[in-house]
Amino acid sequence: MVTIAAARQPAASFADVVEVVVARPDVGSDAVCASATLLSDRELERARRFAFDSDRGRYVVARALLRQLLAARLGARPESVELASGARGKPALTGRCAASDLRFNVSHCEDVAVYAFASGREVGVDVEAVRALPDADDVAARWFSRHEHATYRALEPRDRPLGFFQCWTRKEAFIKALGDGLYHPLDRFDVSLAPGEPARILRVEDVPGDQCPWRLEAFSPVPGFVAAVVTERLEGDER
Ligand SMILES: CC(C)(COP(=O)(O)OP(=O)(O)OC[C@H]1O[C@@H](n2cnc3c(N)ncnc32)[C@H](O)[C@@H]1OP(=O)(O)O)[C@@H](O)C(=O)NCCC(=O)NCCS
Repeated sequence: MVTIAAARQPAASFADVVEVVVARPDVGSDAVCASATLLSDRELERARRFAFDSDRGRYVVARALLRQLLAARLGARPESVELASGARGKPALTGRCAASDLRFNVSHCEDVAVYAFASGREVGVDVEAVRALPDADDVAARWFSRHEHATYRALEPRDRPLGFFQCWTRKEAFIKALGDGLYHPLDRFDVSLAPGEPARILRVEDVPGDQCPWRLEAFSPVPGFVAAVVTERLEGDER
């Protein structure tokens, strides 16, 4: 039903706390029909609201794959996995499935879907294709923090598309780990973004990144794409 690409996993030590699955789902009509049989009535209703068939197909196969991946980890059937959305839209396990400590998050860009799973800790993930956006400088001025914007402006023009999407995916992964989405003010934290520099949360409010309860890792799931995963740090985790 779907093709799961070999994931270029984040660093080995990070793999102890988070499992990442990268997929390039088949969105042909047979795959969409087969996937739809795994979805709940509410998910099918949501699928019907997409204006374009291509978006509908992508949603249906990606959601079915999420159900399959969760089911494999829960020892359940995909169609029996109970999912709900948090106050700001973050999907989570509910009902009988909530007894498990499994947390997850999902991101899609074009035909790439990235799934992150963690046990007993919140997780957020984001993936983007690296591309030159005509309004990238304006978006960076508006949405990046002051420190991030200064770092972005200092990049050589040829490094800016990568720096831009490294910043974007790292910020999105953080606000998705929190579950706040864009309700969270994006200037309240800084991430690293310069190509060649380690992926780090540099600051959260007044707290230096290495003392904050979150950990960031970046990786390239497939050539031409960048992704970031943020997980909650628990007591006893190595710093
Ligand atoms: C959810 C959000 C955080 C990211 O959405 P996005 O980047 O457009 O899309 P992604 O594919 O990465 O993520 C979508 C998935 O995140 C999950 N999600 C939705 N709301 C979420 C939330 N509040 N927290 C965490 N995850 C959420 C869902 O699983 C969703 O997939 P689904 O629609 O198939 O169920 C959203 O707030 C948003 O609209 N972002 C806009 C992008 C932006 O302006 N970013 C500025 C960064 S500098």
